[in-house]
Amino acid sequence: MFRAVDLITKKRDGQKLTREELAFLINGYVNNEIPDYQISAFLMAIYFVGLDFEEMTALTEVMVHSGDMIDLSPIKGVKVDKHSTGGVGDKTSLVVGPICAAGGVKIAKMSGRGLGHTGGTLDKLESIPGYKIELDSQAFFQQVNDIGLSIIGQSANITPADKKLYALRDVTGTIESIGLIAASIMSKKLASGADYIVLDVKVGSGAFMKEVASATKLAEAMVSIGKASGRKTVATLTDMEQPLGNAIGNTLEVIEAIETLKGKGPKDFAELCYNLSAEVFLISGIASSMKDALALVDEVINSGKALEKFKQMVERQGGNPKVVEDYSLMPLATHTVELFYREDQEAYVEHIDALKIGEAAMILGAGRAKKEDQIDHGVGIVIHKKVGEKVKKGEKIATLYTSGEYIEEALSLTHDAYRFSETKVAPRPIIITSIR
Ligand code: URA
Repeated sequence: MFRAVDLITKKRDGQKLTREELAFLINGYVNNEIPDYQISAFLMAIYFVGLDFEEMTALTEVMVHSGDMIDLSPIKGVKVDKHSTGGVGDKTSLVVGPICAAGGVKIAKMSGRGLGHTGGTLDKLESIPGYKIELDSQAFFQQVNDIGLSIIGQSANITPADKKLYALRDVTGTIESIGLIAASIMSKKLASGADYIVLDVKVGSGAFMKEVASATKLAEAMVSIGKASGRKTVATLTDMEQPLGNAIGNTLEVIEAIETLKGKGPKDFAELCYNLSAEVFLISGIASSMKDALALVDEVINSGKALEKFKQMVERQGGNPKVVEDYSLMPLATHTVELFYREDQEAYVEHIDALKIGEAAMILGAGRAKKEDQIDHGVGIVIHKKVGEKVKKGEKIATLYTSGEYIEEALSLTHDAYRFSETKVAPRPIIITSIR
């Protein structure tokens, strides 16, 4: 029998833990036999010492087995899960899901809600009147078999160890650990049952990983864990130095996603969606080269098939599919406040702090500071100038959609998020690299 204190000191002193030792700590914590304060110390030891690949894989597997595992076998065909590590303005699932389903892949996706400066896919979908995020498993499987696509909330008891550990990490300064993030994300992906996994690992000020080097290590760790568990996994590193696309906030992001499905999305966001969808086509064997995969993406967008998939999903889940033609069917704040560029000197946008923009949107009511907070689907921010764009005195930089509350604070954060340069600035590439 182990003692928690011995395992904490073992890790603290830089030694490697065995699968049995990790299972003792994690299962003991989930079963309330080991207290928060010992697991807090253990997490901090991991934060400083790290986990090697074997430990990460073992920790992931222990977490997978802490709860239910979804069996997607009632769904015929290749099932792929696409997951993003979280960012500001990230509505990729709303676009990648329909594109991939239109191309013949089965997307049975369980998504989450937003917390803090990052938004959640479920909150965005609930901007659509009537859209139900809860389906029983039979209806979920049936819908994916019929139309290839469903995005729902998680009802099964998936990875309870992760839920408990994540909440503890959140209040003990131990979120930003590569080993802990890799095990947290991969345990949920492995328990969710897809055959293949496509990961979008965000890098930059609005992401957990601020540097390409650490994001690369995280991506490599997750791809290796996936491989060790028999699931083909690919990770794409993508830029989160500035918000993704132009819209931040629930209805605003659904509108931007629909525009992208119509082939009219902002360049960075559309490029990311095209690329991740192409990775899905490649990994699932639907396309044999990136060129063919991207051509298929083009085809399903240009023919309207991807937009049609989105409409079908909305309709099947009780939502009003007419939102696709009539955005006024979704809640949107009627009060707007504009932020202007006021300097005499023309300049280029050098940086837009994604974290600050995310916080400004949260303050307006688009996100939650605490899990219990209600959100306002109609508020948010549209940014009109992205990194590399030229600005002149009197030009609009951003529009805030507000119910009138906390507008000064949100305006000041949005203002502070922007940094300008008098010399030309290159636009930021959205795709950094892919790790296979
Ligand atoms: N997302 C997760 O699901 N877990 C982490 O630890 C970090 C981001």
